[in-house]
Amino acid sequence: MNRENYIFINELNKVYENIPGEYKGESLKVLSNVSFAVGENEFVSLLGPSGCGKSTLLKLIAGLDKNYTGEISICGKDIKDTKVPVCYMLQKDCLLPWRTVISNILLPVEIRKGNLKQARQEIKPLIADFGLSGFENYKPNQLSGGMRQRAALLRTYLMKGEIMLLDEPFGALDEITRIQMQDWLIKVWERHKKTVVFVTHDVDEAIFLSDKVLVMSGRPGTILGEISIKFARPRTRKMLLTSEFLEYKKTILDLLSGD
Ligand SMILES: Nc1ncnc2c1ncn2[C@@H]1O[C@H](COP(=O)(O)OP(=O)(O)OP(=O)(O)O)[C@@H](O)[C@H]1O
Ligand SMILES: [Mg+2]
Repeated sequence: MNRENYIFINELNKVYENIPGEYKGESLKVLSNVSFAVGENEFVSLLGPSGCGKSTLLKLIAGLDKNYTGEISICGKDIKDTKVPVCYMLQKDCLLPWRTVISNILLPVEIRKGNLKQARQEIKPLIADFGLSGFENYKPNQLSGGMRQRAALLRTYLMKGEIMLLDEPFGALDEITRIQMQDWLIKVWERHKKTVVFVTHDVDEAIFLSDKVLVMSGRPGTILGEISIKFARPRTRKMLLTSEFLEYKKTILDLLSGD
């Protein structure tokens, strides 16, 4: 592991100071000596129990909180000194309820004062790829949960960062929709390749999607193990029924349970 890796994280520690509530004024250590690297166009999942600091870690990689010790570098540059080329999808879809699907999706273009008319033309094939054709003028509350997540993902994609940070994009979906969304995401990713850091607490999802799974401990979160998933691409559901899959799953579950 070295600084030339696309994303390089070394001995990262995060403490929230002056936390509110019962423990008011105290501090909470959330991440402890987190070190890992992500290669360009690699799909890496972060898997860990609730509250272990996964969302916090994404927020730090996105450069939205600079209050940490240790190092986060992208392409060899410390993110404290450079703009981070990320697009970031929060744990909640955060679509604006009063806007239509298309105007939600085009929000990043609007914010960077880009050419909306041109963008509207350019994204037509993407709207189809993201399974939203015919629904451009719907409001978020008129969509299914899966469609809302796809609209939010497309909006994230249009932020044009080279690194996609996705925080449990399918966490709130029922199992059937989640499986459909995983199949769809992997197809889109295999076509449009980007570097992805994907947060989940679903073990099967992490194995199915990733090149590498990072297993985190409970808070303060640290990396317990790094498992390379050697399945060929394109990935198929059949891979989930193989003995290799069960081996990966066993390794991960053993790490999570502290065996
Ligand atoms: N801004 C904040 N100030 C104080 N404490 C915070 C803040 N944000 C998160 N925390 C605390 O940090 C810990 C880790 O939170 P985080 O959201 O990173 O966990 P997570 O692994 O994403 O959990 P989940 O799987 O439930 O989403 C929690 O105990 C949370 O209460
Ligand atoms: Mg979270």
